[in-house]
Amino acid sequence: MVQKLEIINLYKKKLNLLKKHDKLYFDQDKPVISDAKYDNLKKEVLDLEAKNKFLKKLNLSRSVGSPPSNKFKKIKHLKPMLSLSNAFDIKDMNDFISKIGNFLNNKKDIDFFSEPKIDGISATLIYEDGVLTKGLSRGDGTTGEDILENLKTINRIPKKIKGKNIPSLLEVRAEVYIGKKDFEKIRGSFANPRNAAGGSLRQKDSKETSKIPLKYFAYGFGAVEPMIFKTQSEFLEKINYWGFSTNPLIKKVQNLNEIEKRYSYIDSIRSSLDYDIDGLVFKVNDLKLQSRLGNTSTFPRWAIAYKFSAEKAVTKIKDIVIQVGRTGAITPVAKVEPVTVGGVVVSNATLHNEDEINRKDIRVGDIVLIQRAGDVIPQVVSVDVSKRKNGSKKFIFPDKCLCGSDTYKEINKSTKKQDAVRRCTRGYECDYTAKEKLKHIVSKDALNIDGLGKKVIDQFWDLSFIRKPSDIFKLDYEKIKTLEGWGNLSIDNLRKAIDKSKNIDLDRFIFSIGIRHIGQENAKILSGFFKNISNFSNLFNETDREEILKNLAELDGIGETQIDSINNFFSKKVNIEIVKKYIEKLNINEFKEKNKRGKFVNQSIMFTGGFERMSRSEAKSIVEVNGGKVLSSVSKKLNILVVGNSKPTKKKIESAKKLNVKIIKEGDWYKILNI
Ligand code: IVH
Repeated sequence: MVQKLEIINLYKKKLNLLKKHDKLYFDQDKPVISDAKYDNLKKEVLDLEAKNKFLKKLNLSRSVGSPPSNKFKKIKHLKPMLSLSNAFDIKDMNDFISKIGNFLNNKKDIDFFSEPKIDGISATLIYEDGVLTKGLSRGDGTTGEDILENLKTINRIPKKIKGKNIPSLLEVRAEVYIGKKDFEKIRGSFANPRNAAGGSLRQKDSKETSKIPLKYFAYGFGAVEPMIFKTQSEFLEKINYWGFSTNPLIKKVQNLNEIEKRYSYIDSIRSSLDYDIDGLVFKVNDLKLQSRLGNTSTFPRWAIAYKFSAEKAVTKIKDIVIQVGRTGAITPVAKVEPVTVGGVVVSNATLHNEDEINRKDIRVGDIVLIQRAGDVIPQVVSVDVSKRKNGSKKFIFPDKCLCGSDTYKEINKSTKKQDAVRRCTRGYECDYTAKEKLKHIVSKDALNIDGLGKKVIDQFWDLSFIRKPSDIFKLDYEKIKTLEGWGNLSIDNLRKAIDKSKNIDLDRFIFSIGIRHIGQENAKILSGFFKNISNFSNLFNETDREEILKNLAELDGIGETQIDSINNFFSKKVNIEIVKKYIEKLNINEFKEKNKRGKFVNQSIMFTGGFERMSRSEAKSIVEVNGGKVLSSVSKKLNILVVGNSKPTKKKIESAKKLNVKIIKEGDWYKILNI
């Protein structure tokens, strides 16, 4: 009896502590203990519950996560808010410039425009006839949140533009930030100015936002009608004249030499600025060239962020543990003594893979240099071997997954080299991989379920609420209600968010399954190929699958690696069962051809030989922007073979002739394009 009381008291003590840290983590976004300590505490509580069933009857269980935020109205962006690809050294910048040069058919002397990359929160402002009518957060890039009232509290954001010749529709994109000095005054428990700015912009009550001195720099545009600007520099000049804040450290540059000079200069004055910047953005200045270059599905081809080197700190490795990713990749993680790097407390740092540990000979107990760059996971850079104590042991990388099964290193198809990463290949049959797959499924670019984040999945997994994708749609809300912190409102929001996620586009669905090597871009290509879920489901049948995979090989962008991966995935019965049950819960929208008005809708085009007036990449991009598909081999599906003047492949022309495919010359191609 006495023992029971002791257990209850210990449990209450630990549980209260955990609740306190839950609140700090989930509600206030400001954890005060390391992830490792938090995980330990959570494990202690769960272990006590598991061993002492009577504790459950006390009904003291903790809450899981904060109520999902359904605070703001969601609005689709007029034009997607893309992110930027990164360059980390001058070689990356050289690649960027030469790629642009190649795309534009060896164009030389391109003007670039350099701007500091402000480390804040992005927002977009929409003006109709000069009046600010909408203000949105970035959201997932496609849909943002209506934060107009909060943005209006920022003094220097014009509510009405005064000036001549203002486009009737003008969308200005801006980065909102808190000045470093202002941050010191209000910092409270925010880790850094960026978090504080984010927190302030997401206040439900705009009066709360107005208490915090937010500022912004406008850096770009979204939709503009009529388009009156010719260059990025002209755009910034004009909007500055109209009253918008633009950054004063902007400058035109021309070549690699000037780029490097500008980069070093801004880096040298960086710490004296009153706002955080994490690099420089270089943009092609001419807007016509920008539009020729266009975008990939996620990045513009005409801009890049040249990042400053990461912030570093010294700490000690307390332990090395293994983590399993959603593709079964086994990643070693160093648990380090908590240290502040660039304003954020770091207690975990990735060690990448076995080779990396061996190469750097990283051991438990070592004093190491760690670095953290932007949103990237902190990494161990180097070991201070001079500080190593006698008797320290080399770290032996486990050859088993956390689930106990063997792990393997693959041979890379193109390089024929052994992969550095060890993998567990059991997929959904491995509990550790399966849990990560679920986190992927609910993530922003897949089902995008608000309120079902990583920590909640961890908790629902531990409680066996969710073990496979279809379980997400069978949650017992009555049970969740008994968990502390989940009130009627948060349950209602979660239910709504889950219901909403059932309605999903085919490409998002394909991406969500988490087949290795099938990222967003490939999922889009596949969705264009399958058109609907019924065609996609033919992959479940072995004979159909073989045929489908043969056809997939003809798609530009889908190679042997992707085809093998799709085959591997659907060769496993368990995967088929899981995907079937998942599909049953969803309403999957058919693929819709995006550019219905384009010149090449429903047309498959292939190029052979070099062109005089445009690069192959630009030709390909023109076809895609105009709704067509570019094929990489001649088949019955091909509609047009375009033969360039320089060294076309005879074999391709012959095969096209045999199949009665329309063949046109380079000159005809320009005629079609009216150029
Ligand atoms: S241009 C399509 N310029 O960085 C290109 N972005 O990673 C859009 N940012 O979402 C980006 N300063 O929030 C651009 N001078 C600048 C910027 C800037 C900060 C942020 C912005 C954007 C993110 C891209």
